Amino acid sequence: MSRKQSERLTPNDILLSTEKASFFDNLYRRQLSWTKSTRNYLYRRINLLKAEKILEVGSGTGALLQELNDLLSKADILGIDFNPIALGYCRKNNHSSLVQGDGNKLPIQNDVFDVTLCNYLLLWLDNPVQLIKEFYRVTKPGGWIACLAEPDYGGRIDHPYGEEWKELLCSSLSASDPNVGRKLPQLFSLAGLQATVGLQSVVQISDIVKEMYNDEINSLKLFLPGKLRSKLKDLQQSISLTKPSEMMSFMPVFYAYARKPS
Ligand SMILES: C[S@@+](CC[C@H](N)C(=O)[O-])C[C@H]1O[C@@H](n2cnc3c(N)ncnc32)[C@H](O)[C@@H]1O
Repeated sequence: MSRKQSERLTPNDILLSTEKASFFDNLYRRQLSWTKSTRNYLYRRINLLKAEKILEVGSGTGALLQELNDLLSKADILGIDFNPIALGYCRKNNHSSLVQGDGNKLPIQNDVFDVTLCNYLLLWLDNPVQLIKEFYRVTKPGGWIACLAEPDYGGRIDHPYGEEWKELLCSSLSASDPNVGRKLPQLFSLAGLQATVGLQSVVQISDIVKEMYNDEINSLKLFLPGKLRSKLKDLQQSISLTKPSEMMSFMPVFYAYARKPS
């Protein structure tokens, strides 16, 4: 069951300074680097290179927008986010086509975009079906709707700090639904779309796993309720004493895409 917005801190609450925006930007860029090959595959499936008008909802600090701009220098690419600090950071980094708005009620007319997409967004939402319905509304007939990456923390495997680490992540992660990945077929179906759904298995080993744990520890420090902080400190110490070659982490990250009928 999803947790209520009022019971949790989200990046929107935390991202209150440019310094934190820079922390999240680095994190989003690293997350993107782990799923790049699947994204390249998805870009072909949704005809991205031929799209003239593209919308990313939940564009945050602009990490994915930059990749889209690099790939498609002539396309019209719009980013929407409801967080003004993230948008300001993004603007400073040279992405100017930005609008502040809520994905559940997009300030856009019907049938505008060839491709409407998001990346690591649905897990934060209380009503992801409404968002997919909005994606459908603003996409042109024959255009594509895509959720490029949505994690599923409940399916995660970590070694050797398996259950303790998963419990800490799931109980403190501020996401509305940490297991949203597995629900993508259902969510698209509830929005009236039959999605093609797949899984990218992000397996981290050696130095990258250590880097990933450090990212997660630093994020958890921002979000974690006081009573869990000593548990995090103990785990952080154990992780720092473990050789990278003795650790591994598997994170299931799902994707889904569908075409709006012509
Ligand atoms: C994890 S970040 C993803 C950043 C970006 N998609 C990327 O991959 O680089 C999620 C972003 O979604 C935004 N967000 C969350 N709920 C939203 C909503 N209802 N409408 C618009 N933006 C939202 C947050 O402000 C945050 O910037």
